[in-house]
Amino acid sequence: MCGIIGYTGKNNAREILIEGLHRLEYRGYDSAGVSVLDGGVITTVKSQGRIDALDEKIGGTLPGTSGIGHTRWATHGAPTDKNAHPHASADGKFAIVHNGIIENYESLRAELTRHGMEFRSETDSEVVVNLLAYYYDGDLKNTVMKATSRLEGSYALGIVCADFPGRLFAVRSMSPLIIGVGAGENYFASDVTAFISHTKNIIHMEDGQFAEVTPGGITLYDAIGRQVEPVYEKVTWDAEAAEKGGYEHFMLKEIMEQPRALEATINPRIHGGKITPEGLEALDMENIDRIVITACGSAYHAGVVGKYVIEELCRIPTTAELASELRYSSPILNERTLVIAISQSGETADTLAAMREAKKLGAPVLAIVNVVGSSVAVLADYVLYTWAGPEIAVATTKGYTTQVAMLDMFAVWAAGKLGTVTPEREAELTAAIASLPASVQRAIYLSSNVEEIAERNYRHASLFFIGRNIDYASCLEASLKLKEVSYIHSEAYAAGELKHGTIALISPEQLVIAVACYGALRDKTMSNIQQVKARGANVIAVAREGDRTMFAEADDVIFVPGTEPIFMAVPQIIPMQLLAYYVARENGCDIDKPKNLAKSVTVE
Ligand code: F6R
Repeated sequence: MCGIIGYTGKNNAREILIEGLHRLEYRGYDSAGVSVLDGGVITTVKSQGRIDALDEKIGGTLPGTSGIGHTRWATHGAPTDKNAHPHASADGKFAIVHNGIIENYESLRAELTRHGMEFRSETDSEVVVNLLAYYYDGDLKNTVMKATSRLEGSYALGIVCADFPGRLFAVRSMSPLIIGVGAGENYFASDVTAFISHTKNIIHMEDGQFAEVTPGGITLYDAIGRQVEPVYEKVTWDAEAAEKGGYEHFMLKEIMEQPRALEATINPRIHGGKITPEGLEALDMENIDRIVITACGSAYHAGVVGKYVIEELCRIPTTAELASELRYSSPILNERTLVIAISQSGETADTLAAMREAKKLGAPVLAIVNVVGSSVAVLADYVLYTWAGPEIAVATTKGYTTQVAMLDMFAVWAAGKLGTVTPEREAELTAAIASLPASVQRAIYLSSNVEEIAERNYRHASLFFIGRNIDYASCLEASLKLKEVSYIHSEAYAAGELKHGTIALISPEQLVIAVACYGALRDKTMSNIQQVKARGANVIAVAREGDRTMFAEADDVIFVPGTEPIFMAVPQIIPMQLLAYYVARENGCDIDKPKNLAKSVTVE
């Protein structure tokens, strides 16, 4: 995720900004930049690639004791110098850095262009600086309020104006921003890591607040410009803990980040109660007879969920294929087969090879991918970015749930186009997707018993996950998560298939995790729970909130909030991600970097 740092004080700003950017490197980035104000002039330097390249580009000295800096992880527009932040207004009066997504940037850009403003990048962020320049009336606070009142979406902003030496503005709306309080100098940043070596005194800005930051003080305002009393806090973390937002591991941090990651995937794509995925305008679903989803590992499991959702809503035959198999299977694909390739990194060798095969056979390829400008994105005919932000832990969590959410959105969009759902049902499904971030937040809350369940169960040598339909797809992902981070063997089984052989392995004390959330099949899975219980198994059930009869059968029950049944895969994976995490922690595993694994599998 992009990183922001702002500094105003008595020391050389460039040095403090560059140091802060280095400390934000762990978040992942593909370009970086700074703007420093000196003698009424803003100097902006930005560069694709590493922070050292930026520092080299700045060269000798850059005087000035206030400024803003940014590490960018591309979302709108490729990772180029031009698209890097800060963005400066054409008149040189303003420079800004931005984290988040401006959802209405296209209409703002069109409006500002009509007013003669120039745009030099492909980013959504540049509208912010041009809005500031457009509304500027000499009153900085007023200008910031007018400009930000036009923005829809999520944003944390750092703003510098050439007419106000030493004065910075920090604005927060649904994207984190923290103020660091020093002596005769002050900071703000997207996380405390950026300035923790200078101060541990902080102010957490709340959503909708903005602040005027000068060397001598901080004035905090609410959304309508009324001054509010800041609440000062002291962090006790060291720099390493700060990178993880105070969590012990990146995996846990990323699990907890999922509501926000899902908002970034979903919110910009719902307008007026309708799903509007950008870039699919030329994809005519009437010309598609079959869909083949291809990917590896967890991304493949997202594809298995997608198969169920797409078939149910669009009534198009859909299969999910492992990319490493598809590439060598002499697949039957043609121009009427839509191939959907899913990848977090966008660099997975097998997925790329399967895509090439599909393209060779004339199939249109749609990529669902997190990393902007990655090889998968470049190769595809159509791209839907998940915008989950960089994932540091090797085991994917937010990467996976955002892929599933993107497939859910695709299915609703396609069903609307094909008329396989009524407009009323489409509206209902869209509302259910819009509420997925809140469902995941609740799933985190309801998972409060998972740590204790993990503490009682971490010694099992092997276990089974069972479920049906979408519940089964979640079992595949839950089993992989547990294996890779805790090194415990587990198997995901379609619950109805147990009796065809595998039930021979069920003996007293065998741990079985039964996912029984999917409305129509919940009772069927309940029968399978009874079958394994009758053979002495210990059962942990993952059930819908309120399904209290589950207590009669299972030894432990973990509840997940109900949502539209076909979208349950998103909230229901949360407790199982947490279970894998806590079991791994109990076993003393290297959670963020499990043995033998790489984050991006660029070789066959
Ligand atoms: C598991 C995991 C892997 C990836 C797989 C595909 O936690 O992260 O199974 O899902 O290697 O990677 P991407 O999505 O980058 O193509």
